[in-house]
Amino acid sequence: MDPLQMAHSSPRKKRPRQMGAPMLSPPHNIKFQDLVLYILEKKMGTTRRAFLMELARRKGFRVDNELSDSITHIVAENNSGSDVLEWLQVQNIKASSQLELLDISWLIESMGAGKPVEMTGKHQLVSMRRDYTASPNPELQKTLPVAVKKISQYACQRRTTLNNYNNVFTDAFEVLAENYEFRENEVFSLTFMRAASVLKSLPFTIISMKDTEGIPCLGDQVKCIIEEIIEDGESSEVKAVLNDERYQSFKLFTSVFGVGLKTSEKWFRMGFRTLSKIKSDKSLKFTPMQKAGFLYYEDLVSCVTRAEAEAVGVLVKEAVRAFLPDAFVTMTGGFRRGKKIGHDVDFLITSPGSTDEDEEQLLPKVINLWERKGLLLYCDLVESTFEKLKLPSRKVDALDHFQKCFLILKLHHQRVDGGKYSQQEGKTWKAIRVDLVMCPYERRAFALLGWTGSRFERDLRRYASHERKMILDNHALYDKTKKIFLKAESEEEIFAHLGLDYIEPWERNA
Ligand code: CTP
Ligand code: MN
Ligand code: MN
Repeated sequence: MDPLQMAHSSPRKKRPRQMGAPMLSPPHNIKFQDLVLYILEKKMGTTRRAFLMELARRKGFRVDNELSDSITHIVAENNSGSDVLEWLQVQNIKASSQLELLDISWLIESMGAGKPVEMTGKHQLVSMRRDYTASPNPELQKTLPVAVKKISQYACQRRTTLNNYNNVFTDAFEVLAENYEFRENEVFSLTFMRAASVLKSLPFTIISMKDTEGIPCLGDQVKCIIEEIIEDGESSEVKAVLNDERYQSFKLFTSVFGVGLKTSEKWFRMGFRTLSKIKSDKSLKFTPMQKAGFLYYEDLVSCVTRAEAEAVGVLVKEAVRAFLPDAFVTMTGGFRRGKKIGHDVDFLITSPGSTDEDEEQLLPKVINLWERKGLLLYCDLVESTFEKLKLPSRKVDALDHFQKCFLILKLHHQRVDGGKYSQQEGKTWKAIRVDLVMCPYERRAFALLGWTGSRFERDLRRYASHERKMILDNHALYDKTKKIFLKAESEEEIFAHLGLDYIEPWERNA
């Protein structure tokens, strides 16, 4: 039997007290001087707490009996972040930004490893650091804003890092949202996407329905699913979707570059269920994009790593600067938001000194160069329809008007990480999806904001029009009240025009 479970499963069976043995535990050597642990008794019980304290001390951890300012780590079991915060508030303890609130799983793993393991999202009940140190107001820092601060319905007023404490719920919602998208039910799809988005911004894990109180974007339909997952560990609806033939087929078909909902629908109705049947069917016609999608399928479905993205970045910079030496090349999309993998690599290109003609010529020149070098596997160049005086689009998900290209490039393994991992035999390269966007220099802040994503941008536009009477898109910001365009040199200035706190790119993973 697992010794860690022992005290838990039989708290009532008291061992006979050894007569004469001292009740005090023998002194232990403290191996990890920087950590002072406090184990919360609430919902754990005295016996298990004493047992865990003793065990942790034997492993070299300093565990204090009493709560004090010296505590650095509070370890709790069966408590949510908000439970612990509430409890701390009652104890009148000023939660400092150094304090970590952790689940017992962290201590158990640490004891198993014989040293403190790295604290990750699955261990951290609440990340105090972010919200406390962020507040310039010392009074606010003393209170517990994480638990009580009202959560905005707009993603652009929330900080959403990749540290997701509610994976079990958000994964489920994303499956449902995707399924509704496949069935072209936009309203329901959006409902579940918004719910996933808001849960991703929470600094704690939801463990009871009480935790969902006051959180926006969680309607009854959503709450039912949360409740089911809390109670049964899974949702029957999600399970049904994952086993649904239509869902599985659409998921498979849309994984091919160039295949969208319409094509998937057609293939599904024709009775296709596998890609190999589709590829070998002589009666089907494929677009050039789909042909490339099938040709490089294996490479394209295996995600792009950060190392590969950096290597593509070098390739793009080299090519761009060969024609426009003063050009700025910025990696945007998921990688700018700190993601470790992506389905493609996105770049925004802009140059302060170039004429309109230079600008227009750059992407064709770059593409031509790669073609001559044999690196261009697929290219779709979209010409600019940008007009300087046009008002921003009112549609929240309108595409932009900049010149851009959707590419598949050949990336040689030896260009990745200095060739460290280059394979010796067989294929020496990987096909990578690359998006390039060229924008006029004075529009770069708007383009950068738009191309950094995620769908965060949509909510920013929604916020601009509903709350500020302004229209925002990838090109400009227009104030409808003053009837003027608001200029911006940086993303910070755009947030300031909208009266919003600045949200860093890595906090936009909504
Ligand atoms: N985008 C856009 N117009 C397009 C295509 C994309 O404005 N025609 C924007 C999207 O809104 C998104 C960003 O470009 O914010 C990046 O898109 P994409 O590469 O599809 O998504 P990522 O967030 O980068 O995710 P991934 O890591 O899967 O690539
Ligand atoms: Mn991308
Ligand atoms: Mn992209």
